Amino acid sequence: MDHEVLYQAIFHRKSVRKYDSTPLTQEVLDALKGFIAELKPLIPGIKTEVKLLPQSIVKTNAPQSLCIYSEKKDGWRMNAGFLMEQIDLYLSANNIGACWRGGSKPAKGSVQMPQDMVFVITLCIGTPAQEMHRANVAEFKRESLNTISPVSDLYHVLEAVRLAPSALNKQPWYFSGSADRIIVSRKKSLLIDKMNQVDIGIALCCLWLSLLHQGKEAAFDFTPSPVPDKHIFMANVNVL
Ligand SMILES: Cc1cc2nc3c(=O)[nH]c(=O)nc-3n(C[C@H](O)[C@H](O)[C@H](O)COP(=O)(O)O)c2cc1C
Repeated sequence: MDHEVLYQAIFHRKSVRKYDSTPLTQEVLDALKGFIAELKPLIPGIKTEVKLLPQSIVKTNAPQSLCIYSEKKDGWRMNAGFLMEQIDLYLSANNIGACWRGGSKPAKGSVQMPQDMVFVITLCIGTPAQEMHRANVAEFKRESLNTISPVSDLYHVLEAVRLAPSALNKQPWYFSGSADRIIVSRKKSLLIDKMNQVDIGIALCCLWLSLLHQGKEAAFDFTPSPVPDKHIFMANVNVL
């Protein structure tokens, strides 16, 4: 896996909502499968499986979908977001259109659920029938750095994280603590609480890639730290 390619993709990716019917070639699908086999988990103890399914099973406007299934252990939705964001960035870097789909599940009874796992989320994919890259950062609608973190020493790292995709573009993340030990929390939301857990995994993937770009490593731990009012603790990131 080329982390720098994924990192650079953060600055150009966008959700693709128009697809043409040209199928992805077997060669492209084989390379994607190889990439999926190498994904880095956020929480290694959680078993997951990614399935490639056709439009007849997952109803979206794309010809195919990647659906992730997971064991239900602490942090499972966040872990799924972390894994699937690596795929989202790989697809963008390889000119394959993709869009996260919170509401699109495989039709009931159509897929054998992997043992002890449940469906988490879908990324629909296909040949784009629209511009699929942003030319520059000004094209992103995102919060400013000082809205998502008071730690100004981290702003060069958080610039990439700020651009991460999130359900309804709510950007529920908040980064407190210090430049050596970042505390990641999410805003409380009753409406899209489950999706917000996936969102934090997506942001942590961008944070991990951004730290690698800076020549640093991220070591995650999940021992609760204090977080601001109306926020929920998600992770500590120790910067090495
Ligand atoms: C967890 C999650 C669920 C999402 N669900 C949907 C969805 O059901 N339908 C949709 O059109 N977009 C969905 N999106 C895409 C977001 O609306 C999109 O990422 C956000 O508006 C930012 O735009 P961008 O991806 O083009 O940067 C979802 C994104 C995430 C991260």
